[in-house]
Amino acid sequence: MKISRQDERSRFWRDTVGKIPHDYNRIPLKYLRCLNARDVLEIGPGNGRHTQDIKKQCKGYDVADIDQKIVSDFADKADNGHLITDYASAVGKYDAILAWFVLHHITSGELGDFLAFLKINLRPGGEIVINTPCDYRIYQGDAIKDDGMHTTERELADVIEALRDVGFDVTDEMAQSGDSYIICARLKPAVSKPLPATRKITKKLDGKTPRPNPEV
Ligand SMILES: C[S@@+](CC[C@H](N)C(=O)[O-])C[C@H]1O[C@@H](n2cnc3c(N)ncnc32)[C@H](O)[C@@H]1O
Repeated sequence: MKISRQDERSRFWRDTVGKIPHDYNRIPLKYLRCLNARDVLEIGPGNGRHTQDIKKQCKGYDVADIDQKIVSDFADKADNGHLITDYASAVGKYDAILAWFVLHHITSGELGDFLAFLKINLRPGGEIVINTPCDYRIYQGDAIKDDGMHTTERELADVIEALRDVGFDVTDEMAQSGDSYIICARLKPAVSKPLPATRKITKKLDGKTPRPNPEV
């Protein structure tokens, strides 16, 4: 699914990202630790307030965003930067994906596609750490309220259901400071389908009955 109104949305979020105080509801260390020594993709890194902490702990650090300016800003700070134009794209395979204060920027019509995007970019058994704001009173008076960008808070239960639909097991969820929920989820291992039972050859080939292979 192509990202709708990509330029307009990018500009809008770029203008509001700078307003987030550096320490405001950063990802708690406990959850950063679960990204330890892995290839990590951070989606929506904004002004990069988690970048140094993630890089200290991880083997590889890539970023992805719908905003070309943000991707370019990370040219020297990340191993790779990916511009997201379509949630159907694979940009790499990661052990963990972090999307912090991003989910409310995804429109309701995009939610399933966004979660599927996380899935196609994870290795088997890979995990995600995301949060979702749950109380927009904190934004009163800010441009984010009634913004025309389809910014939306979500019920925790709806996010969890959408994650399960896509194939994630939710491993942890908790409220953070009363205004967002943290959710960790792991990609379920693919169920390998049993091979179809071997059929016995009973038909005659070229008029001859097949002989059993003496070596078997
Ligand atoms: C509120 S900022 C959060 C920045 C950072 N994660 C933090 O906690 O400081 C939202 C980030 O998500 C990006 N973003 C907005 N809409 C997006 C979308 N539909 N898909 C992916 N990223 C998006 C923005 O460009 C921005 O980098």
